[in-house]
Amino acid sequence: MRERWDSRTAFLMASIGSAVGLGNVWRFPYMVYQNGGGAFLIPYFIALLTAGIPLMMLEYNLGMKFQAGPAKAINSLKKGFGFIGWFALLVSFVIVAYYVVIMAWSWNYLFYSIGTKWAGNEKNFFYNSLINISDSVGNIGTISFPVVIGLLITWVSIFLIIFKGVKVVGKVVNLTVPLPIILLAVLIIRGITLPGSGHGLNFYLNPDFSKLLNPRVWLAAYGQIFFSLSLGFGILIAYSSYMPKDSDVSTNAFITSFANCATSFFAGFAVFSTLGYLALSTQQPVDKVVTSGIGLAFITFPTAIAKIPGGLIVTSIFGIVFFIMLLTLGIDSAFSLVEAVVTGVRDEAHNIKRGTLTFFICLVGFLAGLIFCTRSGLYWLDIVDHWMNSFGLIVVGLMEVILVGWLCNTKSFRNSINQFSDIKVGKWWEICIRFITPAIIGLILILSFIQEIKSPYGNYPLWAIIIGGWLLVLVLMIIAIAITKSTRASIK
Ligand code: ALA
Repeated sequence: MRERWDSRTAFLMASIGSAVGLGNVWRFPYMVYQNGGGAFLIPYFIALLTAGIPLMMLEYNLGMKFQAGPAKAINSLKKGFGFIGWFALLVSFVIVAYYVVIMAWSWNYLFYSIGTKWAGNEKNFFYNSLINISDSVGNIGTISFPVVIGLLITWVSIFLIIFKGVKVVGKVVNLTVPLPIILLAVLIIRGITLPGSGHGLNFYLNPDFSKLLNPRVWLAAYGQIFFSLSLGFGILIAYSSYMPKDSDVSTNAFITSFANCATSFFAGFAVFSTLGYLALSTQQPVDKVVTSGIGLAFITFPTAIAKIPGGLIVTSIFGIVFFIMLLTLGIDSAFSLVEAVVTGVRDEAHNIKRGTLTFFICLVGFLAGLIFCTRSGLYWLDIVDHWMNSFGLIVVGLMEVILVGWLCNTKSFRNSINQFSDIKVGKWWEICIRFITPAIIGLILILSFIQEIKSPYGNYPLWAIIIGGWLLVLVLMIIAIAITKSTRASIK
């Protein structure tokens, strides 16, 4: 008998927890700012409706209908195509290996928040004191001990949460989903009451409709929807496989995606109001202090926190709030990534105990993550992250929509989505899956590829881009095909 979530709410909370992650805080607000402010919400919303929600329904339906993780579910839909699921799982595994390292930094920052130890020279604290960055990607050097401790804490937490199965996950998300949202609300209230915040928010949302004529803005919207909703990772297929066969697909997809996008939108208020204050207190224009990604979370935001009026206790509290928020945002995305892999492997190897398998996967993940704890770890993290997002997840999504839209009976797939759903999806779903989504994802892929050839990512040496980028993607695909061939899934 397959494991089950305790309730539909537990499943929904876990899915929302997976979607709402680090990406909502450090990626979305910057995307909005960079791509037309308030006007960006138009392509973003269209991307949500034409790609995000349709694809989420596709993934939910695969898991519920076939009661299996990504590889087995896809193979049951169309024999021999299970490699798409394996590829998704391998990409997820690589992503979690570095995602957890970012959480390891957050543990350190949480610790150093007591007394705001980073204050004064935030850049130096991150690059030198914590990760001790080397001068080039080839200069690997030693491993940062404090980061490894953080890594260990995170992996042990992931193991403890998922080794018993989704019942425990369903309980943990009762804490890890609402807590970061409450902390976000605290940061929003503090942010918007700081001087200069209005100026920051103006930067965030001031609509520049002329940007909508630029195709890059549309591509950014689709890319963001994809990563943020956890599409193409295999997670949603794995999670939904623990729901009964006769579960609602479409309503659950609407709830998950709207909850995720609303969180992203609100995160922007916390980020930009605080950046507005930072700009005012350092006498710089707002656009000079705006950053995204790692810089935003570990340099810019700590700089702003250190400047919050009220003395050391107040800045310490806000540091703690911010990093607990990052950790609780990240943990449920991280364990969903590992759970997807555990589910996928267990589908093929029933006789391995869940606990043993989870331990083994966590151990390998921990060891794989050590490369990102070295002195050149940040460079490798940046390269691998770029390729996994641009050429891993997107490829999975493209293969999924081509499979369901062109190689299977799309209409009967839609009928099976509708069978037990309260909200019945119309023909628009088929149009998205067959035409709109593949056309846009395909375009994103081609444009990203051309861009990569024209000006390779991040000025890294070619050998590093080949190893951490192209070769990695290729090797994952070869392994996925090899596993599919060697498992019963392809024979049955
Ligand atoms: N969807 C997850 C995030 O946004 C992976 O971080």
